Amino acid sequence: MGEPHNPLCIFTLLILFQIAFSWNEQANVPTPPLPILPLPSYSQLKWQQKEIIMFIHFGVNTFTGSEWGTGHESPSIFNPTGLDANQWADAAAQAGTSLMILTAKHHDGFCLWPSKYTDHSVIGSPWKNGHGDVVQEFVNAAKARGIDAGLYLSPWDRHDPRYGHAQLQELLNRYGDVREIWFDGAKGSNAPNMTYYFDDWFSMVKELQRTINIFSDAGPDVRWVGNEKGFAGTTSWSTINRTSLSIGNASLVHYLNTGDPKGTHWLPAECDVSIRTGWFWHKTQAPKKLRKLLEIYYKSVGRNCVLLLNVPPNSTGLISESDVQRLSEFRKAINAVFSSNLAGKCSIEASSQRGGENGGFGPKNVLDDNHLWTYWAPSEDQKENYWIELRVRSGKIKFNVIRIQEAIGLGQRVEKHEIYVDGTKVADGTTIGYKRLHRLEMGVVDAFSVRIKIVKAKGTPLISSIGLHYDPFWKPKGEVASQRVH
Ligand SMILES: *[C@@H]1O[C@H](CO)[C@@H](O)[C@H](O)[C@H]1NC(C)=O
Ligand SMILES: *[C@@H]1O[C@H](CO)[C@@H](O)[C@H](O)[C@H]1NC(C)=O
Ligand SMILES: *[C@@H]1O[C@H](CO)[C@@H](O)[C@H](O)[C@H]1NC(C)=O
Ligand SMILES: *[C@@H]1O[C@H](CO)[C@@H](O)[C@H](O)[C@H]1NC(C)=O
Repeated sequence: MGEPHNPLCIFTLLILFQIAFSWNEQANVPTPPLPILPLPSYSQLKWQQKEIIMFIHFGVNTFTGSEWGTGHESPSIFNPTGLDANQWADAAAQAGTSLMILTAKHHDGFCLWPSKYTDHSVIGSPWKNGHGDVVQEFVNAAKARGIDAGLYLSPWDRHDPRYGHAQLQELLNRYGDVREIWFDGAKGSNAPNMTYYFDDWFSMVKELQRTINIFSDAGPDVRWVGNEKGFAGTTSWSTINRTSLSIGNASLVHYLNTGDPKGTHWLPAECDVSIRTGWFWHKTQAPKKLRKLLEIYYKSVGRNCVLLLNVPPNSTGLISESDVQRLSEFRKAINAVFSSNLAGKCSIEASSQRGGENGGFGPKNVLDDNHLWTYWAPSEDQKENYWIELRVRSGKIKFNVIRIQEAIGLGQRVEKHEIYVDGTKVADGTTIGYKRLHRLEMGVVDAFSVRIKIVKAKGTPLISSIGLHYDPFWKPKGEVASQRVH
């Protein structure tokens, strides 16, 4: 030691330099941006990606023509002689949904499964001589097609309110994995105050099913959107203050519809709507027109929400042919619009990018198939005037829909955005979230370039996908054929 020309010592120094140098090199690899809380859970992210869920309202109301049963219906009226849950699951698969939710018990208290706590169920019905189990057939049919099963259990029971928690245990113990449980906030004005039940129920649900999402007006995993039209707010935050929510509280519908940019909980909204006027099947009703279903899609999925579309089986126990047809048209239309992305023909630039040219956060990330974990991130030094621009390599492109998605795994951020086509503003909006769709009010444009400006955001905006699409079904009033924007 102490010998300045000791070759071993120099060798050691060299190694130390090398380590220091390579450590330094690693320190230059740009890291992903920090998340902005609150964040979605694993199950909430899975749910969000489903986009459309099928709701199945079925029970004694199917046979009486009512929407809210009294609880005094005789189980003998429930006799769906041709019931085939495989036909429901086929319809769901055709509609491209990967989760179906069945009303195991509606407000009338009639159980679609042989609950051991009541006779007010399929046990008392002539269907299969009282040996049937609709929930079991539903679960089996879904599973056979790789579709997840969810169940609706009304907390309000007009027949006998005593068995709620026991029946909840039966449903969550007997039928395998249940991905969503739906607690309806609806109840009659004379019904007892049920608020105190809910926290106990929610804890029990999580104990029995680890990956389940619990839906109610107030979450804890998925919230109601505040109406039964299937429309989310034009501003639609997945975040909200859960502690300000309560179940069945009419004064909260606006807050539920828009969410809260300062919200302390991740609690995204589900947009429930029926393909027909009623939730249950009625002989005289018909499915909504394709144009209406597409409007619902743009105002739910296109506003950062999941669409829960109800398709009620008829009294034979089958989904009517007209509804099956409409579902299939609906899926074909969505695929026709979104299966190809005209932005693929564009080169792409942005105001800045995190970690520079080869940092891995460049604007090209918005054109790949990963809509969650690869994204464009501007440089940390940039604090405002964020933009990303698509430019056609040759010729022009014709489109009337713009799709923008945020990397919500790191939090919802964008508060205000604007879209310019060849320099002219064609659309603007507030939130983006998992998916924001703009159908252009001016109709089809024929353009060289599209610039999206992020005008306001909670921290650095992270854009995971951008699409330019042509929707042949979109005919806004006042559209001029082959419109130019300038
Ligand atoms: C229902 O009960 C909860 C707590 O048990 C209470 O906070 C709430 O105010 C009650 N609601 C009504 C409408 O009485
Ligand atoms: C309904 O919500 C409002 C706003 O949060 C709250 O002030 C009120 O107490 C709630 N009512 C009930 C019955 O929980
Ligand atoms: C939600 O909670 C946050 C944090 O406590 C608060 O800043 C915000 O004002 C609340 N929102 C509403 C609408 O009360
Ligand atoms: C229910 O739908 C099926 C399939 O379209 C049809 O065959 C059957 O007649 C319908 N039942 C009733 C009562 O309308």
